[in-house]
Amino acid sequence: AAVKSYNFDVQVTNVSRLCHAKPIVTVNGMFPGPTVYVREGDQLLINVTNHAQYNMSIHWHGLKQYRNGWADGPAYVTQCPVQTGQSYTYDINVTGQRGTLWWHAHIFWLRATVYGAIVIMPKLGTPYPFPQPEFEHNLILGEWWNDDVEEIVKQGNKLGLPPKMSDAHTINGKPGPLFPCSQKNTYAIEVEQGKTYLLRIINAALNDELFFAISGHNLTVVEIDAVYTKPFTTNAILIAPGQTTNVLVRANQAPGRYFMATKPFMDAPISVDNKTATAILQYKNIPNSIIPTLPQLPALNDSTFALNYNAKLRSLNTPNFPANVPLNVNRSLFYTIGLGVNPCPTCQNGTKLTASLNNITFVMPETALLQAHYYNLKRVFTTDFPDRPQKPFNFTNAPLTANLRTTQSNQPRLSKIAFNSTVELVLQDTNLLSVESHPFHLHGYNFFVVGSGIGNFDPKNDPAKFNLVDPPERNTVGVPTGGWTAIRFRADNPGVWFMHCHLEVHTSWGLKTAFVVENGPGSDYSVLPPPKDLPPC
Ligand code: C2O
Repeated sequence: AAVKSYNFDVQVTNVSRLCHAKPIVTVNGMFPGPTVYVREGDQLLINVTNHAQYNMSIHWHGLKQYRNGWADGPAYVTQCPVQTGQSYTYDINVTGQRGTLWWHAHIFWLRATVYGAIVIMPKLGTPYPFPQPEFEHNLILGEWWNDDVEEIVKQGNKLGLPPKMSDAHTINGKPGPLFPCSQKNTYAIEVEQGKTYLLRIINAALNDELFFAISGHNLTVVEIDAVYTKPFTTNAILIAPGQTTNVLVRANQAPGRYFMATKPFMDAPISVDNKTATAILQYKNIPNSIIPTLPQLPALNDSTFALNYNAKLRSLNTPNFPANVPLNVNRSLFYTIGLGVNPCPTCQNGTKLTASLNNITFVMPETALLQAHYYNLKRVFTTDFPDRPQKPFNFTNAPLTANLRTTQSNQPRLSKIAFNSTVELVLQDTNLLSVESHPFHLHGYNFFVVGSGIGNFDPKNDPAKFNLVDPPERNTVGVPTGGWTAIRFRADNPGVWFMHCHLEVHTSWGLKTAFVVENGPGSDYSVLPPPKDLPPC
């Protein structure tokens, strides 16, 4: 296998958007950051050197990191941060995966500007299982704040309220011509009539699930979260923070200029949409003076579109790309997702918004959990996270207040999972305060989304309807507001693996936990020794 090396120089760079200039944290001065290209089976060596006045840690979202959580990146979960002046090399074996993933800072809210694409090409000589595109492009959807994001977050914490929302969405870091001072700096893809394009779309937004469409053109979905899907054609896609979606687009319309556009689904609070980001699909030899038209995007609250769209996602499930869905369950977990209000003596209003799983708000440790696990350090975490909530949750009849208070312990409470056991996790939203789906992301694994529904999960009747044949396999799934999602995976990757809502605002409030997956028999199935340059805590 080949070795691909990258140098990631974390630095502060001045960037200007929406007529506002500000210093932002970048990798190599680029916003978005550099694309990591690698081939399935290769080894990646990414040397991160931190020249910024912030602690840094980078997560390779969706890379499985078999036995090697040391290279996973979430700060205080698998490593302590890379401090100013320090370096750390992420040593990653890219095996058994191909497709689009992405990387991002995994500390504070720094992923607002520190993110980029990961493109894993299939092994040499292995074609895509769909018509070969002539060209490929990455489209990273993001958010832009005119003010300093870390300051905005501090302000929000002081008040115990959500931080101020972003000022624009972006496509490859650019909001597009609907925003002031953005006309010249618009992202554009030049296309040739009759050719097919593979677009690798990544939702790097902090807090918004997004619709994306191209006026006049259909999108054929062929892959999600670096797993091939049964192709289907749609006029718009829905993509949650953390997710990736590959689509094929054929340039088969009248030569012209067409807007690509992205806007939120179920933004909270549901407001007027003034954040639509645009980029341009431009046919060759068409002058820039032609004004493009906007695509029809679903309405902000179009949950019917969301349900129908998600129901179309299916694993390809061919002999070459089988869906190995666990058919029996060794460990059954049921976690409620809640947003609540807790007392906060230091907050301006005396209360603060919190978030919880099984009514437990996660507290971050000061030592990385994986180190504590590996060296058997005591008093860093406990493994008594409950498999189900203490009180059953009644979505339709429970009094509002019953689910608003959460408990918080001194140490993080984790769940211990036996090696190679098959796990089913039902995530039940009990969200009485907000309208958004919760995009749940599990580190170290892909999982199968075997079922989903609105209202209370019904343990008697719902499992009979699970798709155990070709359910979508992914690393991040949107749990519908007021509904549930069931996932299954085989716990064959030992280590400590973070699981959290990929809405940064909810993660900050404690909507996260971690699994301790025990070592298997013998050293071939155990967590690898840590690298020498692992940042000290
Ligand atoms: Cu993409 Cu834990 O994150």
